[in-house]
Amino acid sequence: MAEVIKTEEVKHAFNLGKIEVPVLFGINLTVQEGEFIALCGSSGSGKSTLLNLIGGLVKPTEGKIYCGGEDITAMDENRLSLFRRQKLGFIFQSYNLLPDLTAQENVELPLVFAEIPPAKRTEMAREALELVGLSDRMDHRPNELSGGQQQRVSIARALVNRPQLILADEPTGNLDSHTEEEVIELMLRMNREQGHTFVVVTHDQTVAKRASRVIYLKDGIIERED
Ligand SMILES: Nc1ncnc2c1ncn2[C@@H]1O[C@H](COP(=O)(O)OP(=O)(O)OP(=O)(O)O)[C@@H](O)[C@H]1O
Ligand SMILES: [Mg+2]
Repeated sequence: MAEVIKTEEVKHAFNLGKIEVPVLFGINLTVQEGEFIALCGSSGSGKSTLLNLIGGLVKPTEGKIYCGGEDITAMDENRLSLFRRQKLGFIFQSYNLLPDLTAQENVELPLVFAEIPPAKRTEMAREALELVGLSDRMDHRPNELSGGQQQRVSIARALVNRPQLILADEPTGNLDSHTEEEVIELMLRMNREQGHTFVVVTHDQTVAKRASRVIYLKDGIIERED
């Protein structure tokens, strides 16, 4: 099994002018290809920070992060954004869809950056939207979709260029329990059938129960894992 992520003694402190806010205190975590990891822990324990570090959105103050063997902490901003576009998919609690674009156009965006030709792009976006059950909502804008539908669009967007790793920060946080169950089911199916590796930050025991591994963060360290 290939190693998708490896963090070595990762520490992070946010710098607020004169004040340093230490948040992570030495995280050693390895994620293997095909895993579905749930990242749990109380509010403020550092889950989102760790996810953002793994996704190359924030640089750690100390330590190394390897993604597919490459040290992302050593990459400059250009390399890093290329790496994010090619290797990662992100799913956020607030969906982060562009309001003026239709569902299909939102899903096409990563492919635009990857310079896939327009016809192919459309085909791939429509396929991804079908996969998440939104064939009949492709031309809707985000404000014309329900929360669950918007999250499914953002899952389709995260999957569309078949990234090595999908990072999700409380993807079901804004959804009712029925829709939540559907979204979890969808992510598990993408893991099982399409082989995407997931790291999912969650407060939700249903996700945690069905994950291949659960990592518990407490006050910026890994407290335990199941
Ligand atoms: N940009 C920032 N600047 C300063 N401090 C920050 C910043 N982002 C997060 N923090 C602090 O880092 C700590 C961890 O935050 P983080 O968002 O990683 O927690 P979390 O585990 O995701 O919590 P939640 O479950 O509430 O989302 C918190 O104490 C928070 O105040
Ligand atoms: Mg968080």
